[in-house]
Amino acid sequence: MPRYTEEQIEQVRAANDVVDVIGSYVRLKRSGSGYVGLCPFHSEKTPSFSVNPARQMYKCFGCGVGGNVLTFIMEYENYSFPEAMEYLAERAGIVLPKKELSAQQKREENLRMTLLEINRKAASYYYAKLKSPQGKLGYEYLQNRQLSEDTIRRFGLGYAGQGGGELYQYLKHEGYDDRTLQETGLFKMDERGVYDKFWNRVIFPIMDVNNRVIGFGGRVMGDAKPKYLNSPETKLFDKRRHLFGLNYAKQGKRKNMILCEGYMDVISLHQAGFTGAVASLGTAFTEQQANLLRRYTEEVLLTYDSDGAGIKAALRAIPLLRKAGISGRIVHMDPYKDPDEFIKALGAEAFQERMDQAENSFFFEIGVLRQEYDISDPEQRTKFIHGMARKLLVFEDKVQRDSYLEALAAKYTVRQEDLRSLVIRYANQMPEGYQEVMEERRQESRQAVKKREDGICYSYRLLLSWLIECPELYTKIKSVIQPVDFVDEMYHQVAELLYQQLEEGKQEPAKIINRFQDIEGQKQVAEMFQTDFAAEMNKQEQEKAINELVVRIKEHSIEHRTRNLTDMGELQELVRQKKMLQNPEKLHISL
Ligand code: UTP
Ligand code: MN
Repeated sequence: MPRYTEEQIEQVRAANDVVDVIGSYVRLKRSGSGYVGLCPFHSEKTPSFSVNPARQMYKCFGCGVGGNVLTFIMEYENYSFPEAMEYLAERAGIVLPKKELSAQQKREENLRMTLLEINRKAASYYYAKLKSPQGKLGYEYLQNRQLSEDTIRRFGLGYAGQGGGELYQYLKHEGYDDRTLQETGLFKMDERGVYDKFWNRVIFPIMDVNNRVIGFGGRVMGDAKPKYLNSPETKLFDKRRHLFGLNYAKQGKRKNMILCEGYMDVISLHQAGFTGAVASLGTAFTEQQANLLRRYTEEVLLTYDSDGAGIKAALRAIPLLRKAGISGRIVHMDPYKDPDEFIKALGAEAFQERMDQAENSFFFEIGVLRQEYDISDPEQRTKFIHGMARKLLVFEDKVQRDSYLEALAAKYTVRQEDLRSLVIRYANQMPEGYQEVMEERRQESRQAVKKREDGICYSYRLLLSWLIECPELYTKIKSVIQPVDFVDEMYHQVAELLYQQLEEGKQEPAKIINRFQDIEGQKQVAEMFQTDFAAEMNKQEQEKAINELVVRIKEHSIEHRTRNLTDMGELQELVRQKKMLQNPEKLHISL
């Protein structure tokens, strides 16, 4: 059930000029009738991202993203459709009527809002405490760790006082009841009373990507245990789905991001200018976090602690990154323990050097495996080579696997043929190997189907883009090609909307995109209007092209509808149309 009416969506879209909005994120330069800039969704040095004010759409010719202003906000801010609507409505000063929620949903929503509010108040309370005379201990601790005034403010670091109930007193005073306070995870409650969870610790607020405080970490200022306390899971806080520092690190698509273990690592890295650093929250890196990162980058530099636990954690993170389609590289920090200590000892430039030398994560895995064997012993060396062969099976792409195979063969002086025949042997033996072959076959057949569909869909896109660009074409083709002739469901819908607009004499592709509320749908529709239709062709060539296009679409449509025929009346109509196709001069469109 859509939460907003079409009118509301269109009102919000129309009130937010695409050039204005995108211009506030991306530096745009005028170019012809539109604007160009560096694409925020992939890294590039020359601009291939263009914004078209007439169409109210954007498109990147480098990575293929495109859409209207709502698509952009969804992509860039990582918002859901309703969130993008709220954001853009607010930006344009439009008050959207409150969405209809059930009583239960309303209570939940209210509770969430209240919890966010309490967290924000708690964070400011801790921060104010740090800056007050009672916060001296905490402040000195952070200073000793070489955090600047600026960094402390930017990360909103704080101090939980020594009383053990100060935050509770404060929030009670602000009027919150115990039941709500209990839900924040900031207090321990039992028969004897209520206590602050955090006391005599420096505080690290944890924020989500949209800068909302969802939890806290607190560190002792000495060697006591546990070193860090963290908020428990609450209605707001799910550790597996968030990354500390992501709200500061997110910035369109980055060339790479740095994944480390601790709060202090992230903060030190940011302070040293490495603003792409994030950390998993005191737990092992998760699949959800990998998927989250994928939205912002294609490469992750792992700077886990250089001890055994850090190596183990890295070995666990690498496959998750790989599965998410992110390539991982390992930054070595020895002889230091973590990025924080490294930077303190050797500085930012040295860290940058280590980043530049980061090791390919597969080679890292093999290197760790290598440590398990004494390869001067033939028996153990054989085992190691077998281990390598098995590991190589993670690469599904044959070309990729071969290039790794060649590299490993050279590095560990094994004959390529030997390693290859082992790989083939394991591929045939192991269920994974089998699955891989099946998957390859499935992909081939999927691609064949896709190719066929792509052929006709390409024609649809061409015609739709052409109609947008030259609306005068509409009166010439509308009697021949109707929306029903677009036999793909999505194209059909879009054609119907566009025909309706053209009938009314105004074409607004950005409005059509509104109809589709998921990003995938929006992208596909944007794509439909962005197909190059060879504007450089002369009139005669254009005429030839459009006629071929019309015939192709019509033929496909007749064939498809004949195949799926259910009513006889339609059969007659199809026979009539088929005849028409055999007499192309009757159909001919002249420009
Ligand atoms: P580390 O023990 O590596 O600490 O834990 P650190 O980040 O280097 O901290 P400093 O420099 O001594 O202050 C890494 C991360 O694991 C989580 C925290 O998120 C920490 O930042 N952790 C660690 C806990 O949650 N609880 C603990 O008791 C210890
Ligand atoms: Mn540390």
